[in-house]
Amino acid sequence: MTETQFTPRVFSGIQPSGGLTLGNYLGAMKRFVTMQDEGSFETIYCMVDLHAITARLVPADELRHNTRELCAGFIAAGIDPEKSILFNQSQVPEHAQLAWIFNCVARMGWMGRMTQWKDKAGKNAEAASLGLFAYPALMAADILVYHATHVPVGEDQKQHLELTRDIAAKFNHDYEVEFFPVTEPVIEGAATRVMNLQDGTKKMSKSDPSDKTRINLTDDADAIAKKIRKAKTDPDPLPEAVAGLEGRPDARNLVNIYAALADITPQAVLDQHAGALFGHFKMALADLAVDKLAPISTEMSRLMAAPAEIDRILGRGAERAREITVPILQQTYDIVGMLRS
Ligand code: TYM
Repeated sequence: MTETQFTPRVFSGIQPSGGLTLGNYLGAMKRFVTMQDEGSFETIYCMVDLHAITARLVPADELRHNTRELCAGFIAAGIDPEKSILFNQSQVPEHAQLAWIFNCVARMGWMGRMTQWKDKAGKNAEAASLGLFAYPALMAADILVYHATHVPVGEDQKQHLELTRDIAAKFNHDYEVEFFPVTEPVIEGAATRVMNLQDGTKKMSKSDPSDKTRINLTDDADAIAKKIRKAKTDPDPLPEAVAGLEGRPDARNLVNIYAALADITPQAVLDQHAGALFGHFKMALADLAVDKLAPISTEMSRLMAAPAEIDRILGRGAERAREITVPILQQTYDIVGMLRS
């Protein structure tokens, strides 16, 4: 078989589950903007509202609000809806249609091994929704219904992307085609795993009950500075080399956050701040964070004041998305043997 050439195309998604964190921004959005502006890929970014109801059925108004707020977040962070395709998953029905085919390709055993399934379903898996179990097959469909070649995500999505590759490979093998690309995860940079500000061994997450553990993209300048000043650290000064952060998860986290916000390497941060105590370093980090993040929160509020404009942008994004997904789904149906209407 000859190697099929696929258009270099980036796809990624974020759940509109309420509240965007610094983790989502540094691990995902900021890198989405870089890939958009670099110009070597077509870039497609999605609010995955179908995923957002897998853990619990969210009240309808809340889901609509969260979806619009996430769209405002994307734009405020620098996604340009002219340069990228920016849209909401449920408005492009081919995602759910391809997901059904993938539900029949993926094996129960593969899904059962997903660590996010195990974490989210907890001890009472019997009471979890079928949608939560099938979540990674929908995620594979999100990516492959565009024949996306590259997927920028944070570290926590790595296993789901491996599963996406397994689904593509099994489909191609079983139908003897080279139809779906074997997608490359893009997990790069200093902030692929931003940690909890009160416990550097845990991931920063919007679902943590304590708001002190995270920076929200909707936090104002005061709240951002306060949370950084109160972040957990240790009494030692900053080391000269990255190796000196070994065994110091809280210190490492703040250095990584600084590096990602300033677009420099963690070593460059240490070159500037080696020997500093955390009281001092946290002030510099708070200034930097306020400088980079406060304008995003201001812009989000401005955009949220015009929800009709957000809906228009999402409507247009869905139309553009479907120019890609309709033919790919049709070809998939042809390969599988579904009759054309
Ligand atoms: P979600 O909504 O949980 O998170 C969105 C993105 O933010 C990244 N992220 C982090 N990165 C670094 N540090 C953190 N503390 C942190 N917290 C979150 C996530 O890695 C992710 O990139 N299943 C996905 C959504 C999805 C998707 C897709 C992603 C659905 N379909 C197709 C890519 C391609 C999720 O729940 O992300």
